This record gives sequence, C-alpha cells and structure tokens, in this order.
Amino acid sequence: SGSGEYTGFVPDMQRRVLMNLIVVAVCAVPALVVLGGQVCPTPLNGKRGPADFFPKLGGGGGGASPVGDINGAAVPLKKWVAGHKDNDRELVQGLKGDAYYLISTPDGIKDFAINATCTHLGCVVPWVRSANKFCCPCHGSQYDENGKVVRGPAPLSLALAHTSVLEDGNIAVSPWPEQKAMEEGQQKNV
Ligand code: FES
Repeated sequence: SGSGEYTGFVPDMQRRVLMNLIVVAVCAVPALVVLGGQVCPTPLNGKRGPADFFPKLGGGGGGASPVGDINGAAVPLKKWVAGHKDNDRELVQGLKGDAYYLISTPDGIKDFAINATCTHLGCVVPWVRSANKFCCPCHGSQYDENGKVVRGPAPLSLALAHTSVLEDGNIAVSPWPEQKAMEEGQQKNV
C-alpha cells in the first residue's frame, strides 16, 4: 500500500506541473496582446523623456494669447490645417510658456488644447498614437486622449486651455475658467 501512495504521488506532481504550464499559457496570451503595441512604452525611471526638448518661454496669463511654434513664431490656423491630418497632436508654446498639444480635426482644430505637463512632477508627456494615450516617460502616468488621468502616480488630469483663432488668423489659447475654479477648490481643501 505504501508503494501505491508513492505511485499516486507522481502523477499528482505531473498534474501540478501541467496545471502550472496551463496557467502560464493563459497568462501569456494577454501579455502578448499587450506587447502588440496597445500600451504606453516603459517609463524611463525618472529620466526625462524625448519630448522634453521643448523650450519654455515666459509670458501668457490673462486672456487669449497666440501660441508659438518651436521657434516662438505665431501659428496661422491655415498653415496648421494644411500640415496635419485628423487627430494629429503637436506641441506649441501656450499659456505661461507651458507646452500645449493642439489637436487637429478634419478641417480645423479642437476647441481645447491639452497642457503637456505631467501633473506628477512636471515631465512633458508624449502623445503615443498606438496606445491612444499620453504616456509619461518619467514614472509611467497615463492620460487618455482628452488628458484625463487613467493611471497614476499623477494626481490630476492634464490641464486644458480653450483654443480660438485671432483676427489675424493665428491660433490662440486662453485659460479654462471651469478648470481653474476646480483647481482653486482643491487648493482650498488642502
Ligand atoms: Fe512622474 Fe509624470 S512626472 S509620472
């Protein structure tokens, strides 16, 4: 009877090994799908990301201020539309010198721009088209296509600004009062 227990033990072990293999296989499938490009790239563990090239200029504040391209030059709407496809996102200098994403539509731009400054520690967040997200390269925060935070450590969504077109045809951004009121409310609570 002792040997009977022993021979029963071996298939048990084999079954367990087999089960482990099945578990590994089941878990591996979603992992492979994830590797297919639907996720944000791995964060750089605190190192600044590739989008961090953008120079910060002073200024901004009050009402609608024209955005600047990488050289600080005004950005005419016509030129922008000619150079972008639907749902392109490109950095411009916006309010207070922060980098903002303008978002193209088939024949213009969206009525809001998204501040590219991560609400965690201020890295510039690149837009990752394949993931349809803004992915912070510093500590892995993620924001959806509208800047809403979907993964921490970022505590807040990306700031927004209203976009408009000035009389001279150049694109401008202005503060988003609803969001400002919200931020002030949060500060009061602190
Ligand atoms: Fe830390 Fe963006 S700065 S996640």
